[in-house]
Amino acid sequence: MGGKKSLWVHVLVLLGVAFVAAHSAHAQSAAPAPDRRAELINMVRQDCGSCHGLTFKGGLGPALLPDALAGKPAEALVSTVLYGRAGTAMPGWARFMNAQEAAWIVAQLMEGFPQRADSTERSQ
Ligand code: HEC
Repeated sequence: MGGKKSLWVHVLVLLGVAFVAAHSAHAQSAAPAPDRRAELINMVRQDCGSCHGLTFKGGLGPALLPDALAGKPAEALVSTVLYGRAGTAMPGWARFMNAQEAAWIVAQLMEGFPQRADSTERSQ
């Protein structure tokens, strides 16, 4: 009797784990909510723009336009954004955004970053 019941508990726990895993995998690729997206766009334009150029054509830091990033592995760029690059001026931003948000920012940069939160224009 007891054995059968605990088997069911196991099955339910496994289903729960599978659900959570599937759900968080989905969250990884999801875009941030609109309000947070607007905050991130402003932050990138202002804070990142101060080194990478207001139009991301480069300054103290290299250009972050689609052409400049083409062919670079996104995961490496995401970790540069989160943790910075030791020995360079590039700081890490992990205190200000999570990994999912950093991945979203890199994806946007690779496609041409939105000019403003409320516009569909992008950097070329
Ligand atoms: C204080 C100046 C500074 C700020 C602010 C800054 N960066 Fe950087 N960033 C740099 C420098 C310098 C490098 C080049 C590091 C190197 O020599 O490898 C760099 C490199 C990068 C790279 C790698 C580019 C490549 O082609 O490999 C990415 C992506 C990047 N920064 C994104 C960002 C983002 C996004 C922000 C804002 C959240 C930001 N940076 C803010 C200075 C800065």
